[in-house]
Amino acid sequence: MTKLTDSEAARLHPETLALSHGFDPWLSEGAVKPPVFLTSTFAFKCAEDGKRFFAWAHGEGTPPPRREMGLIYSRINNPNLEIFEDRVAVWEGMKDAYSFSSGMAAIATTLLATHGPGDEMIVCAPVYGGTDSLIHHFLKRLGITAQFVPAGPDAPALAEPLITPRTRSIFIESPANPNNRLTDIGRMKELAQRHAPPAAGQATGRILVIVDNTMAGPVFAQPAKVGADIVLYSATKFIGGHSDVVGGVALANDDVLLTAIAQHRAMLGGMPNPYTAWLLTRSLETLKIRAEQQQRNAQQVAAFLVGHPKVREVLYLGLLQPGHPEHAIYQKQHTGPGSLISLHLRGGEKEAFAFLDHLKVFHLAVSLGSTESLAQHPATMTHSGLTPEDKRFGGVTDDLVRLSIGIENAEDLIWDLKQALEHA
Ligand SMILES: Cc1ncc(COP(=O)(O)O)c(C=O)c1O
Repeated sequence: MTKLTDSEAARLHPETLALSHGFDPWLSEGAVKPPVFLTSTFAFKCAEDGKRFFAWAHGEGTPPPRREMGLIYSRINNPNLEIFEDRVAVWEGMKDAYSFSSGMAAIATTLLATHGPGDEMIVCAPVYGGTDSLIHHFLKRLGITAQFVPAGPDAPALAEPLITPRTRSIFIESPANPNNRLTDIGRMKELAQRHAPPAAGQATGRILVIVDNTMAGPVFAQPAKVGADIVLYSATKFIGGHSDVVGGVALANDDVLLTAIAQHRAMLGGMPNPYTAWLLTRSLETLKIRAEQQQRNAQQVAAFLVGHPKVREVLYLGLLQPGHPEHAIYQKQHTGPGSLISLHLRGGEKEAFAFLDHLKVFHLAVSLGSTESLAQHPATMTHSGLTPEDKRFGGVTDDLVRLSIGIENAEDLIWDLKQALEHA
């Protein structure tokens, strides 16, 4: 959208910018949609350019804005990745983004870029099973240790006594996967700054607030607005939205953090390929209408599930009532309840499996945030790697089923749930 001035672009909404921001058709024969730049390497006009581009990529000299740095090699930069990153950053209201080949690549690279041996993390549990394994096993082997507190309104009070001079981050999923618990990101930020204030002239202090926003964002929550220093995504979920692509994103506002993430991505090689980035860019165009339709359906599904005799409890942000300790957090952090519903059935694994095995419209599959509705059993699927103790700690019980509501007709989804619950 090259005709727009910067101040005009700043007034436009993300869903408008998702259709054109960051791409100049006149650099690509007037193509309205970005072509796929399937190239591993880029020609330099002269050797001096190559020398300068590499120096900037190493952080030497005074680099120009990132998009003017000159294309080098697709592990370092590529137009499709940059167009996608520009548009995600607009959605999140953050300075810049780096895309990855998966959510786990984004999370692992970011944690490796920001933590070193001896550093400590405070983690609000539960988190996605892959993240849990990464922290419990892989990072531990590197000398990065974690203390866990239960996600929810009490998390800041429980976290405070665990802070030590080696605490480097507070890691939050809000809502948490799979129990939808909400943690107050602003209070965690206040805690981080009180214990380790930023030095003069620095944007962040020693303790980083890192939020995996996969479950709510970016349409219904933007954690940086309430204090997150780094926001992470599995772009496989709502951002990709069609269960046909795996990807991830890390966003930050602070240049030091952004440079560290960029350099670690280039070293570890976890960037997406250009076609993946192109697919994710395509998906961003419909993100808002998909997320809103999924949310409308989820509200009807949740209303049906509440009070169903086979359902002990429905965990859905749209059911939080004023006075509930998480309702105040919801109001601060969310503009909508989204489309992820977890339910405790009456019974245990046997009843949960009977319900799952009889679903006909929902797919029995892990993942979430896609156009089709999905159902899975966290205790034996996404979170099966947790120890029994960690499952108990994170509320991952045998009777828990997680639903991701898609864009189908809500009546059809309710019909399917109703007939499957008869078998539970
Ligand atoms: C909250 C959350 N974060 C991260 C991930 C990992 O993402 P990916 O599968 O894209 O690596 C997932 C995957 O389910 C997730 O649910």
